[in-house]
Amino acid sequence: MTAYLNGQFLPLSEARVSPLDRGFLFADGVYEFIPVYSRFPFRMDEHLRRLQDSLDGIYLPNPHTPDEWRAIILRIIATADFEDQSVYIQVSRGADIKRDAPFPKGVAPTVFLFTAPLVTPSPAQRESGVATITAEDIRWARCDLKTVALLANVLMRQKAVDAGCAETIMLRDGYLTEGSSSNIFCVNDGVILTPPKDHRMLPGITYDIVLELAAKHGAPHEVRPVSEAELRSADELWMTASSKEVLAITTLDGLPVGHGAQAGKPGPVTRLMHDWFCSFRDNVMRHANA
Ligand code: PDD
Repeated sequence: MTAYLNGQFLPLSEARVSPLDRGFLFADGVYEFIPVYSRFPFRMDEHLRRLQDSLDGIYLPNPHTPDEWRAIILRIIATADFEDQSVYIQVSRGADIKRDAPFPKGVAPTVFLFTAPLVTPSPAQRESGVATITAEDIRWARCDLKTVALLANVLMRQKAVDAGCAETIMLRDGYLTEGSSSNIFCVNDGVILTPPKDHRMLPGITYDIVLELAAKHGAPHEVRPVSEAELRSADELWMTASSKEVLAITTLDGLPVGHGAQAGKPGPVTRLMHDWFCSFRDNVMRHANA
């Protein structure tokens, strides 16, 4: 697998970072994850804009212009011998010669990228949806920044795995925030509901696409706080993320999602949204390759 580290393209196995790197010592860094279909980086500019927002949020000057980023990303995509990829980008505040919390002066940031095969939901997960659990959101107050300080997300994700589930859905003060690595949508009485973008959740790139598609197709939707009661009584639930796309959630804390004959199965709005998403993505790619 190919990596990029501080100006150099090299095999991932040869990439080396100092143990004094502030990403390692303090989780003082930010990241992005860009899905790549048939070597086309999907929504690259939006991911680069969010990277800028994350860097601004931690007062770390962007080491590259958008054009430089695009060139690095396209080159790393070209080096891989697989078509569908996930490009990981990380920028940390670099490696000083000592461990000291305040920002160091004159230290270059560490820029690291690597690409791996894109892993999307399996046909079985697409067909049946996935199981989830809930937990209290124990993260800090800047969940809108995509920082590498992911310990709480890691613990939440492990909780899901230990319960035989795909994701942990987090609640803060009785309201839905998001999944450990996804945004969450409910359908209640035919209306798509999702929380507004604020400091309690990551502004998902896929979340934006889903809301654009709901508007384009005239699907009733409301962006507003979603209570725990609304989450638990939802007719349908789905998660969104760059690698998950639109993925049905069919159980929550061991109980089937939805009501009547639909209970525990991917719902009609979820299926429709997934179809809209796939058509939109394929259309973007057709134009990109034309
Ligand atoms: N995770 N919320 C959190 C906490 C996330 O980590 C992610 C994505 C999302 C969805 O964002 P997007 O649609 O832009 O992928 C929401 C990535 C994929 C990751 O951590 O690898």
